[in-house]
Amino acid sequence: MSFKSFPKVELHTHLEGCAPPAFIRGLAREKKIDIGGIFDADGGYAFRDFDHFLKVYEAACTTLQTPEDFRRLTLAVLEETAANGVIYMETFVSPDFCGGGDLAAWRDYLAAIVDAADEAETKFGITLRGIVTGIRHFGPEACKPAARCAAETKGRFITGYGMAGGEMVGRPGDYAYSFDLAREAGLNLTCHAGEWGGPSMVRETIRDLGVSRIGHGIGAADDHALIDEIMEKDIVLEVCPGSNVVLKAVSGWPSHPIAKLRDAGVKVTVSTDDPPFFHTTMTKEFEMLQRTFGWEEDDFNALNRTAIAAAFCDEDTRERIG
Ligand code: ADE
Ligand code: ZN
Repeated sequence: MSFKSFPKVELHTHLEGCAPPAFIRGLAREKKIDIGGIFDADGGYAFRDFDHFLKVYEAACTTLQTPEDFRRLTLAVLEETAANGVIYMETFVSPDFCGGGDLAAWRDYLAAIVDAADEAETKFGITLRGIVTGIRHFGPEACKPAARCAAETKGRFITGYGMAGGEMVGRPGDYAYSFDLAREAGLNLTCHAGEWGGPSMVRETIRDLGVSRIGHGIGAADDHALIDEIMEKDIVLEVCPGSNVVLKAVSGWPSHPIAKLRDAGVKVTVSTDDPPFFHTTMTKEFEMLQRTFGWEEDDFNALNRTAIAAAFCDEDTRERIG
């Protein structure tokens, strides 16, 4: 089967993290910004470990300075993602990188992103929805303006609130205010947990933040009681195997727990996270799942069905992509 043309749905990407290195280099050149040595000899992003990855990521983001930069980024990303057969994608967008948490500025950035998403839907046949994201290592106070931006701009495009960044900073409960605010506004909730943290981090994320999805969640794989709780609460995992391998959250594809989680009955989905950083695409993720675990068309169809059912979109959109 051709993995490239197989229709795919992915729920976990970061908009800035989808920026090709050449795109960021182009902006840096245009704006005469010195972003330092964030590239390797082949022109790809270079980082040693997760903490360094976050620094390189933030350095790349310094070149994204205007709504027009985000409009161009969104269009370029969606063209490439659609070329890999993705028909529906959700992306994390951070007010911190779009006007520093200021609501008026955020509205301008968001308008540009939505404008590009609408253009891409017409041109490339891909639908995008946005999840406003607090950055955990910026601290609980900094996540509050992000949640306010989410609450104020909830609508057709912004359908969720989430949290990314350094998972080991603080405990989930420290961020409850932002998640409560977003929940009261009617937003769907997800949070990175169990990428680096163990079962207690995943448990507290479910208990204290009330999320319906978890970003990664692989730290739950060895805890049977937690797996039962995830299933009972119908929580869906946004698993990003290629990201986990490159960032060394797991030792390699063969030891990735996605198959174990799925076979235990957990609802798993597959996404790319930050594709150019991890030299991946949805096509490559599917190829590696087939090569490593022997997954075939039925398995990929099941992945898509789980992702469509868990998508943070309205029912009309769900029917259209289903
Ligand atoms: N931001 C972008 N990619 C991320 C990841 N894999 N984990 C946490 N925060 C991120
Ligand atoms: Zn992520």
